[in-house]
Amino acid sequence: MAYKHHPSVFLVFVTVLLSIHCSEQLQSSHSQTLLRIQQLLNFPVSLSNWNNNTDFCNTDSNSSSLNVVCYGDTITQLHIIGERRDTPLPRNFSIDSFVTTLVRLPSLKVLTLVSLGIWGPLPGKIARLSSLEIFNMSSNFLYGSIPQELTLLSSLQTLIFDNNMLADTFPRWIDSLQALTVLSLKNNKFNGSLPNSLGNVENLRTLSLSHNHFYGVVPDLSGLTNLQVIELDDNAFGPQFPQLGHKLVTLVLRNNRFRSGIPAELSSYYQLERFDISLNSFVGPFQPGLLSLPSITYLNISWNKLTGMLFENLSCNSELDVVDLSSNLLTGSLPRCLVSNSSDSTVLYARNCLDTVNQNQQPQPFCHTEALAVGILPERKKHKQVSTVVLSLGIVGGTLGGVALVLLIFFIVRRGNDRSKTKNPPTRLISENAASGYTSKLLSDARYISQTKKLGAVGLPTYRSFSLEEIESATNYFDRASLMGEDSYGKMYRGQLKNGSLVAIRCVEMKKRYSTQNFVQHIELISKLRHRHLVSAVGHCFECSLDDSSVSKVFLVFEYVPNGTLRNWISDEHARKSLSWTQHIGAAIGVAKGIQFLHTGIVPGVYSNDLKIEDVLLDQNLVAKISSYHLPLLSNMGKLFLPGSVWKFFQWIKKF
Ligand SMILES: *[C@@H]1O[C@H](CO)[C@@H](O)[C@H](O)[C@H]1NC(C)=O
Ligand SMILES: *[C@@H]1O[C@H](CO)[C@@H](O)[C@H](O)[C@H]1NC(C)=O
Ligand SMILES: *[C@@H]1O[C@H](CO)[C@@H](O)[C@H](O)[C@H]1NC(C)=O
Ligand SMILES: *[C@@H]1O[C@H](CO)[C@@H](O)[C@H](O)[C@H]1NC(C)=O
Ligand SMILES: *[C@@H]1O[C@H](CO)[C@@H](O)[C@H](O)[C@H]1NC(C)=O
Ligand SMILES: *[C@@H]1O[C@H](CO)[C@@H](O)[C@H](O)[C@H]1NC(C)=O
Ligand SMILES: *[C@@H]1O[C@H](CO)[C@@H](O)[C@H](O)[C@H]1NC(C)=O
Ligand SMILES: *[C@@H]1O[C@H](CO)[C@@H](O)[C@H](O)[C@H]1NC(C)=O
Repeated sequence: MAYKHHPSVFLVFVTVLLSIHCSEQLQSSHSQTLLRIQQLLNFPVSLSNWNNNTDFCNTDSNSSSLNVVCYGDTITQLHIIGERRDTPLPRNFSIDSFVTTLVRLPSLKVLTLVSLGIWGPLPGKIARLSSLEIFNMSSNFLYGSIPQELTLLSSLQTLIFDNNMLADTFPRWIDSLQALTVLSLKNNKFNGSLPNSLGNVENLRTLSLSHNHFYGVVPDLSGLTNLQVIELDDNAFGPQFPQLGHKLVTLVLRNNRFRSGIPAELSSYYQLERFDISLNSFVGPFQPGLLSLPSITYLNISWNKLTGMLFENLSCNSELDVVDLSSNLLTGSLPRCLVSNSSDSTVLYARNCLDTVNQNQQPQPFCHTEALAVGILPERKKHKQVSTVVLSLGIVGGTLGGVALVLLIFFIVRRGNDRSKTKNPPTRLISENAASGYTSKLLSDARYISQTKKLGAVGLPTYRSFSLEEIESATNYFDRASLMGEDSYGKMYRGQLKNGSLVAIRCVEMKKRYSTQNFVQHIELISKLRHRHLVSAVGHCFECSLDDSSVSKVFLVFEYVPNGTLRNWISDEHARKSLSWTQHIGAAIGVAKGIQFLHTGIVPGVYSNDLKIEDVLLDQNLVAKISSYHLPLLSNMGKLFLPGSVWKFFQWIKKF
């Protein structure tokens, strides 16, 4: 494959080709320049054969550390590899004089100066080598930034500054180098985020930025149709999975701050050979299809929070050499095709919840619980003091045309029958330091009561965590058209998941900073609020702020209930819609069952004193579902069993 054509292969090829023409004498000024270079570099071992009598163009030197290629009487390629990997040249070395000397070889097309101890900031006048096509200065001690004058090198195809001490941010002018195909800046001290202009370097084939201090979102590179190798490991990129072209061969995102899901498009990366996303916080389902990509040989997803179930009958590419699935939240059984037949392939899967006795598996509930808490980043010490977060999420299910639903409920709640509550808005989101009756122990013990479970979440998809990408794609990037309503805590969107199911997504903006750890128990509880007669939770997603990974938004995903409120169906104004008597009774019984579930179906129970007929929605089968139940997590703990909603319910049922 083209990308594998190493510059040195090209070099050898050209050497052979050009050796035919190389019988001419080199201009004597060029010989002088080379000798001066030898001197400025403090007589490296690889140049030890050079002296006044050397015929530079026709040396039969077979050494891999020195090569000079001439064309006519000029030097077109200079390739010097020294032994000063760890020691810079002495203090009297001047990079300025060195480059001044170097640019007296203006026909150079290929210049390799590796491990020569060259130190200092690269002077802009290097751009006087205007024919330069391949420039490799790896393993020196360059510092400062890449000089902008390089934009003058219109033929530059390969630029390699690996293993130096270059700092500053990524050059914004990079798209002026339109011929650039290989850019490698591994192991430097670059910082900042990548400019969008990177997406315009059309010919880019290899981008290696490993081991720097880059951070932030990777710009959209999907327009780089030639991109085959991207290595971003050991930086702080994230949180979104980068947008990349389909021809990738090597994709290395190891050890960054990615926190999103893995996009489904990856399964169309037919050339992908090496896939390493280890040591991030990727969430969401692992796509087993990756194992059977036609070219894949190395797959490492270890140390993430990927979920999903594996099956014995999954298929894998037989060329797979290394598969490392360890330290994720995978369940199910290890695919048979991974049970290694030969000793030369490596398959690691420890610290998952797989159904095998091998390689140190976790118990099943571990993955389940962790999956619920997914999105959790390492706990930050500075948030410790807010460990008594109190969360009372006003949860509202979806409704058809319910643009004003949320506002409506707020209005009703404000005006509500229960005047005594007005001082204490029931949908308060977070109230710090409120007396807490529930210990976290109790919350973490929360469980279904088994009998109710049987009646419960029939037909609902399993509760799971969503990636931000899934939320974005479901709401078409929070498109206005998806907006159903808004209140002081955030917005409510209608959305459609990849599998086609409709959902209502409640976006709760955090005004204070909490770590995801603070939400684990609440999410545990929310995940249990699933019942045929509740607008049930389907999942959640955390969005974390970039700087300190505190939670900036929580998205709660609910099933979407399309048939409007019960009130619309029974009130006179909407007489054209009407329910039969059995449907009335069915709805009433449904509401009763929903309330019973809230009160007794989960531990601890959820009590709400102000259920209103507007809060009852009807689904496509006219099954009643309670949509506005409050999660009095911690704040209303005093009122342990106030059957208020049951009471209201009976008042309401008397209206029939
Ligand atoms: C630099 O100093 C070294 C001794 O440390 C000496 O051998 C060398 O000739 C000097 N080089 C130049 C270019 O002055
Ligand atoms: C090479 O030639 C220059 C003058 O052309 C002279 O100064 C130098 O000493 C010579 N070096 C050797 C190693 O002969
Ligand atoms: C070049 O060097 C290698 C070992 O370094 C040797 O095997 C080979 O024969 C040499 N070729 C020539 C043409 O000297
Ligand atoms: C740069 O040159 C060195 C020495 O030839 C080589 O080992 C390295 O692979 C080159 N870098 C790239 C990216 O080709
Ligand atoms: C990058 O690092 C340099 C020093 O190494 C610093 O002055 C600069 O502020 C940093 N820039 C960013 C964006 O972090
Ligand atoms: C997978 O990645 C992890 C973390 O980067 C690394 O420690 C491990 O050695 C890799 N596994 C294999 C089999 O290469
Ligand atoms: C693999 O097995 C699972 C359950 O064990 C089954 O649902 C699925 O249909 C099977 N897939 C194929 C391709 O046989
Ligand atoms: C191991 O052998 C089985 C059949 O014996 C085959 O189906 C499977 O693909 C092989 N696995 C690998 C990794 O080669």
